[in-house]
Amino acid sequence: MVEILFPQLLIFGELFKCPTVLMSSFPGYFHIHGALGNSMHPIVYPSIRFPFFRNLSFKERLVSTVYFLDHLLRHVPQKYTRNTAILRKYFGENAPDVNQLLDKVEMAFFNAHPALNGPRLVGQNTIFFGGMVHLRDPKPLPKDLDEFLNRSVEGVVYFSLGSNVKSAFLGQDKFQAIAQALGELPYKVLWKYESDHIPDTPKNIKFVKWSPQQDVLRHPNVRAFVTQGGLQSLEEAIYFHVPIVLLPFFGDQEQNAKKAEHKKIGKAIYHMRNGLHKDELKSAIMEVIEDPSYRQNIKSLAEIILDEPMTGVEKVVWWSEYVIRHKGHAYNSQSHKRPQVDKSNGNKHPWST
Ligand SMILES: *[C@@H]1O[C@H](CO)[C@@H](O)[C@H](O)[C@H]1NC(C)=O
Repeated sequence: MVEILFPQLLIFGELFKCPTVLMSSFPGYFHIHGALGNSMHPIVYPSIRFPFFRNLSFKERLVSTVYFLDHLLRHVPQKYTRNTAILRKYFGENAPDVNQLLDKVEMAFFNAHPALNGPRLVGQNTIFFGGMVHLRDPKPLPKDLDEFLNRSVEGVVYFSLGSNVKSAFLGQDKFQAIAQALGELPYKVLWKYESDHIPDTPKNIKFVKWSPQQDVLRHPNVRAFVTQGGLQSLEEAIYFHVPIVLLPFFGDQEQNAKKAEHKKIGKAIYHMRNGLHKDELKSAIMEVIEDPSYRQNIKSLAEIILDEPMTGVEKVVWWSEYVIRHKGHAYNSQSHKRPQVDKSNGNKHPWST
C-alpha cells in the first residue's frame, strides 16, 4: 500500500511479488487518476491547488487548462524521470519505470466523498472511502477546558489554524484584526495558540497551547469553528455539526473553502489575496451562528456522508482483503507481468546485473 505522493515506492510490489494498491489522504492528483484510467478533465476536476469549484469563470477555465497541460506534458514526466533514475541507481539498470509501476496498480483508495467533492467519473479500481475516517470515540475533556465550555452558556467560538499554521506566525496586522474581531463577539472564544507568550487580548478569549479538537467540537456550547480549512478539520466540523468560518492559507485549503461555501456550511475569507479585516471576520462569525441554516446544512451534509452501507475504514479493509484474496488479478490486466523472483539468487532483486 503506497501513498500516492510517492508512486516510486510501488517498486516494492515488484520486489516482493505482490499486488499493489495506492492510498490517498485527499481527493487525489489528476495524473494519478489518469494513470488509473479515471477521468481527469481540467475544468470538471480542477487541481486541488486552485480555489475553483463548480461553475468556473472563463479565466479560471483557462488557468486550470494551462496548468493541467503543463503538468501533464512537462512537470509529471520530469518528476517520473527523476524518480526512475533513483530506482535504477538502487535496483539496477533494468528496474521498471514509474509509469510501468503505476500500470500494475490493482486498486486505489481516496479519502473523498462525492457529497462534499462532487461526483467523479472513475473505474472499478477506484474506491472513495471518504469522509471522517479519522474520527474517534469521545474522550473526557481536561477539567479546565470542560469547566470553561460548560460555563460559557452564551456559546463558544473555537479558533484553531491546525498544526501547520501557527497562530504566532500570523503577523502583527492579521493577529490584531483577529483578536479585535473575536474580542467584540458576544460569545466566549477558545483560541489554540501555540506560543508561550500570551498577548494582551480581550477577556472573553481563553488561550490554550493545544486542544483535543474532536472533543472540543463535540461540546454542545461550541457554536462556530474558525479554521484554516484543512481537510481533517473540515471533516471534524461536519461530523460535529459546527458551522465554520474558513481562513485558508495554502495547499488545498482555498478549494476546501470553496466547497464549504458551495454547501452553505460556512463562510470563507480569502485573506491571502484580499487581506483580513476585523469587521469582515466578525460579521462572518456572527452570520454562521445567527443564521440557523448553516447548522442545518452542515447537519444534513454529515447525515449524507455517514449514510453508507459500511464505514470508510471497513470499505478499505474489505477491498484490501479482496485484492489479497485474488492476488491482484481481479481488475488489472497488467498484473501477470510481475517478475518472477528467483529465490536461489539470495536476496538479490530481480533486476541485478
Ligand atoms: C460539564 O457538563 C457535563 C454535562 O452536564 C458534566 O457531565 C461535566 O461533569 C461538567 N464538567 C465539569 C468540569 O463541571
